[in-house]
Amino acid sequence: MDKILDNNYIPVWFMRQAGRYLPEYKKIRQTEKSFIDLCFNSEKSATISLQPIERFDFDYIILFSDILVIPHALGQQVTFKENIGPLLNPINSLHDLGQLNIKESLQTLDPVFKTIKLIKKKKANKDLIGFCGGAFTVLTYMIQGGSSKDHLLVKEKVKKEKLKLLEIIEVLVEISSLYLNMQIKSGANRVMIFESWAGLLDGQDYIDFIIKPTNKLIEKVKKKYPKIPIVTFPRGSGKKILDFIDSVPCSVISLDKTFPKKILKIANEKNITLQGNLDPLILVEGGKRLDEEVKKILLTFKENKHIFNLSHGILPITPIENVIKTLKIIRSFNETR
Ligand code: CP3
Repeated sequence: MDKILDNNYIPVWFMRQAGRYLPEYKKIRQTEKSFIDLCFNSEKSATISLQPIERFDFDYIILFSDILVIPHALGQQVTFKENIGPLLNPINSLHDLGQLNIKESLQTLDPVFKTIKLIKKKKANKDLIGFCGGAFTVLTYMIQGGSSKDHLLVKEKVKKEKLKLLEIIEVLVEISSLYLNMQIKSGANRVMIFESWAGLLDGQDYIDFIIKPTNKLIEKVKKKYPKIPIVTFPRGSGKKILDFIDSVPCSVISLDKTFPKKILKIANEKNITLQGNLDPLILVEGGKRLDEEVKKILLTFKENKHIFNLSHGILPITPIENVIKTLKIIRSFNETR
């Protein structure tokens, strides 16, 4: 923890660092048929969260869970099918969720808070990142009923049924804020909001579904925990990330593959740390290209507060030796600074 307080030190962790590229994860994964059950098994989730730390000594632990525990807690059926991904009973409006009791829903998430306590008990000296999905990203899965390639249904509903969707967003912001606050109370040292589908929206929709709900969520967390660093990830925002950084009071922004260079200067002016942004496909590829790309990223963010990460989650086919090589380059860069 002290290392990462040094302004010259570049910490590193990877999105989805606990996952299927690790044989030890695959082994424990086999012990539970349902992925949601795995997420709600505190002992196993704590072990999984720590697997990449034992192996690679990443600078941050990220809680092992999923953003879709929230729709599950709200009473929506959520299952994960191998090679397909998440499957939910799609909803069209708040009404489809039936009688809502947010406090009771939150109780369903108790095992997650227990996981956090277990992780902190086992490894108190490393910062733990808690997380939730951005309200819009969670909403896309709730109304689509799973993953989608083109997101046509969601885009159409945003245009035609905006008010109905914003009602669901409001509930998601409320439960997500209580969820993050409980994670912090249980021991999370920072929290990250994964808004993976931010890039689907433009103009006023980007403001109404991405910026405003993120701000409301952050406001509710800051009210209770003003000092906790909040990490945002408005993936796919492109140039709109300039509007995002302009109006969202976060400590860290995680960057995907493409971002306007201007953000480097703005982040410094606003004392915002930039996190990113190695392409997971290059991590799979390895070789000289990986070497060059890692070095290029280290130089790109040289004048910034920087946390090295990927531009999206690590892929299951990633060779472990490429992770080791990447860490070696970053660590030797750190030694020469
Ligand atoms: O980063 C970490 O190591 C922490 C754990 C974590 C998972 N999911 C574990 C997981 C985190 C932070 C997430 C976030 C998440 N989940 C997001 C936002 C980030 C992103 O990837 O855009 C989203 C959109 C989801 C929803 C989700 N969960 C999908 C679409 C899938 C299926 C795709 C896939 O990779 O299988 C999941 C399943 C999932 N979440 C797995 C893991 C390790 C794989 C499931 C398994 O092992 O059976």
